[in-house]
Amino acid sequence: MFDRVIANGTLITAEATVQADLGLRDGRIAAIGRRLAGLEVIDASGMLVLPGAIDEHVHLHMPVGELTSSDDFYSGTVAAACGGTTTVIDFAEPKPGQPLVEALASRRAEADGQVVIDYGLHMTLAWADDETLAQVPACIEAGVASFKLYMAYEGLRLDDGGLLRALAALRAHGGRALVHAENHDAITYLVAQALAQGRIGPENHPLTRPDWMEAEAVGRLLALARVTGTPLVLAHLSCALGLEEVRRARARGQTVWVETCPQYLLLDEAEYRRPGFEGAKFVMSPPLRTAADRQALWAGLAAGEVNTVATDHCPFFYETQKTRGLHNFSRIPGGAPGIETRLALLYSHGVRTGRLSPERWVEVCCTEPARRFGLAPRKGTLAIGADADVVIFDPERRVTLSPQTLHQRVDYCPYEGEELQGWPVTVLSRGEVVVRDGEFIGTAGRGRFLPTEADRWRGSRLRSWGPEVSAAITAACWPTAATM
Ligand code: URP
Ligand code: ZN
Ligand code: ZN
Repeated sequence: MFDRVIANGTLITAEATVQADLGLRDGRIAAIGRRLAGLEVIDASGMLVLPGAIDEHVHLHMPVGELTSSDDFYSGTVAAACGGTTTVIDFAEPKPGQPLVEALASRRAEADGQVVIDYGLHMTLAWADDETLAQVPACIEAGVASFKLYMAYEGLRLDDGGLLRALAALRAHGGRALVHAENHDAITYLVAQALAQGRIGPENHPLTRPDWMEAEAVGRLLALARVTGTPLVLAHLSCALGLEEVRRARARGQTVWVETCPQYLLLDEAEYRRPGFEGAKFVMSPPLRTAADRQALWAGLAAGEVNTVATDHCPFFYETQKTRGLHNFSRIPGGAPGIETRLALLYSHGVRTGRLSPERWVEVCCTEPARRFGLAPRKGTLAIGADADVVIFDPERRVTLSPQTLHQRVDYCPYEGEELQGWPVTVLSRGEVVVRDGEFIGTAGRGRFLPTEADRWRGSRLRSWGPEVSAAITAACWPTAATM
């Protein structure tokens, strides 16, 4: 007898789609089979049953100058859960001179007690001096094995020498690198030029961060990573030219993974030309690109060239925060909301349109982020022994996106008014129902900090769901089909 059984659903993992029940016990998946008995049975007839999604890139309660992103660890993780995400990875950003493990402890103090789902952290490396880099092993030991490196943003960015040193240190210690690639000097020059010419509106944001300078930064980064031999994850890739640089690096044998975001797949630069100041809603870095870039990213995602879809959720209120840049677009706080809508957007625009198979949908939103950041196989898959983070997704449910109905704490939605078909209805985190029929019923502080492993994942003692396991389940469920 299991604590809970999710019965009669269509299970989707990165490897296979099968009809089977899930038996949950003590917060973990204990059985995958037919006619399982449980103290509680959740009927998932007609539903898709997926691993809880993992958002590898979010900024909750993030200080940006005198502002702070508008979702805190409670509201942001409630929104994540309501959208089918059961793990988020946020960032710890050390203050000048602050030891990394101290920055980690203080970020954990903000999050613990607030989070409603499990979370991990990346450590921002804004300095690459000997003293800072010597702390990388202690940081990994303390549970943060991935490090964000910025090539842009004053106060955060590393120059080429700093990048080389940081990449070398990460390689030496098995730290995972997640890199924001844009050309800082070109942006500074183009922004100053625009302002000097009196061009102050948000439509200037994309003009000062051209795709070819993002591609230049990607190419330079990958050349530097070639020197140090460091594998890395490219954060929020937005353009076709950047993907070409990735192809070149892979062709010469480098290991690089690519993250993109729903906004780069679904929106384009026309948004910046909305009337008045409305374009400010889409000020994020890198900026939205062209329809051709979107097509290239979709094709790359389907082909396995783009590996994960994260949100880069970094919301600011339009009315009270984005307006900081009313007379100077470079002062608009960068970032957009998206933590709640990723899984459903990718289903409606990816799976329903035939751009992505259901398995690939699960892979890019759930499974690959866990592999990439040292959380697999505990997270990101439906496998015996894995945490019972499960999404029951109604493929027919129609939802019109609006800030009034979403849980994200922000006064706009980049996809406002759009009707999606397919939405997560019930969500379990470590076996506990936290969203039931679309309503959040979890509690603040129930989420746990997840230490992430350094880059030495080579499979696991847990049974991951490969083709053999799928075949065994098919044989158990449909003996006749299996012998045909
Ligand atoms: O504009 C963005 N993307 N803000 C969040 C910080 C970052 O660069 O990831
Ligand atoms: Zn970034
Ligand atoms: Zn980000």
